[in-house]
Amino acid sequence: MTRFSEKITESNKKNRKWVYVTTPIYYVNADPHLGHAYTNICADVFARFKRLEGKNVFFLTGTDEHGQKIARTAKKTGISPSSFVDTTVKSFRRLNKKLNISNDDFIRTTQQRHITAVKAFLKQIRESNDVYKGTYKGLYCVDCERFYTEKDAVNGMCPIHNSSLEEIEEENYFFRLSKYQDTLLNQYRENPSLIRPKKRRKEILNRIKQGLDDISISRASVDWGIPLPWDEDQTVYVWVDALTNYLSGIGYPHEKFQKFWPADVHLLGKDILWFHTTIWHSLLLSAGFSLPNVFAHGWLKVEEEKMSKSLGNIVDPIAMAETYGTDVLRYYLLQNTTFGEDGSFSTKGLLQARNNDLADDLGNLLNRELIMISRYFEGRIPSPAREKEVDTEIISSLKQKKEICTSMESLAFSQALQEIWKRIREINKYINTTKPWQLAEKGKNERLSTVIYKIAEALCVLSSYLYPFIPTTAKTIVKALGLDTNKIGANQWRDLIPGTSIHAHRKILFPH
Ligand code: MSP
Repeated sequence: MTRFSEKITESNKKNRKWVYVTTPIYYVNADPHLGHAYTNICADVFARFKRLEGKNVFFLTGTDEHGQKIARTAKKTGISPSSFVDTTVKSFRRLNKKLNISNDDFIRTTQQRHITAVKAFLKQIRESNDVYKGTYKGLYCVDCERFYTEKDAVNGMCPIHNSSLEEIEEENYFFRLSKYQDTLLNQYRENPSLIRPKKRRKEILNRIKQGLDDISISRASVDWGIPLPWDEDQTVYVWVDALTNYLSGIGYPHEKFQKFWPADVHLLGKDILWFHTTIWHSLLLSAGFSLPNVFAHGWLKVEEEKMSKSLGNIVDPIAMAETYGTDVLRYYLLQNTTFGEDGSFSTKGLLQARNNDLADDLGNLLNRELIMISRYFEGRIPSPAREKEVDTEIISSLKQKKEICTSMESLAFSQALQEIWKRIREINKYINTTKPWQLAEKGKNERLSTVIYKIAEALCVLSSYLYPFIPTTAKTIVKALGLDTNKIGANQWRDLIPGTSIHAHRKILFPH
């Protein structure tokens, strides 16, 4: 097995042309819920933003299909785990399609390419002398698929699921996590972007400082998993299996994976940050790979309550998108919650965002412009004449994209949307100030042509800002202005040619 040195991957990182973005891979024991939709949408927004910047993006998502939780659920339904996952994975694929997620690949941990990668990765770690055999005794939560100490448990129950913990004692293989304590602390201090947001980095640092125990990386009593390459009586612990998807999805163990590695960002929820930092980073250090950046988002509550099966308030994102529209859901989820903080979901909030921001501010803007082009210029983009200061100003302030880009770069999605909406309101103000309907009282004239052209130009610039968030809507805008939807991007306003026929609207954007 080739060992890829830190040096190679570090220099890779600086010169690379690829941006590699991931979501967690989801357990397929139940249908996808709003939490899954949230991470996928956020990752999609970032991936689309980077593609617009001209970057080659590799965006990976997928499903986590091994382990006790899945095996038990399959057993209850009376079918084999493998037929069970082949069926349930479909709803995750459907979710991505419905939400317009532009992932480049979909990894399943039951695929042969993944199984090969997990075996190769574990062999590499064993070759580093980081694996030994021992006896594990402790508490296990099947829902989390993780061990808990007496100290972590709340009245003997799982602190996340409030379900009873199972006592486990078995002989299995351990990974020397404790060996990496100092290296991790140094890396995190030197390179803050490895764990974001800041407050989460502090939490992880504090926990590591309290000391790290070695972890069990195999299970003797779980059949539904990948056999350990050196001891087929044991299967790989489902979390180690799952984390390796970030390598198998880009072709590891073939060297081509180096083109993408390390990931620019693993996006995930705060509950699984420990696995993605302390554990994943240590495993990677052991294998000699450089470390990926990790960003943990908060949890979404529903109508101020924790979303849970027992409360019966699980939100089905597919149904939401079908009822209210994919772009409405995408917009609301990102606008309403500061990325990194906990957030809340309510149908009332979603409708408010739809009616106020999407329908009134944005939808009306496009509708007004299209109606004016149809009414005053027989449906053709007019020719701009001499600009006044007000025209130059609106376009130049709209083209100022620094704040938007900085927010997007730091994954501050709600902040980016605030900036974008500030610009939408400015365009609406421009229309109210220039009053094209009054200009039109004198029939076609140069001033009217200029104003109407400038609004079209503004909409065109705007569509590139909107595209990562609400891609279908952005394309509708571009198409309505007679432009090529495949060429959506920051400079598309240059393609706006006077005389081009607009596609006067068959469908109003976000009708009330
Ligand atoms: N299979 C593991 C991940 C392995 S990644 C190598 C797993 N799967 S999961 O399906 O249980 O959860 C996946 C993600 O959903 C996590 O990032 C979790 O934070 C997120 N969410 C679950 N409920 C959520 C909310 N209510 N709100 C936001 N995200 C939430 O863990």
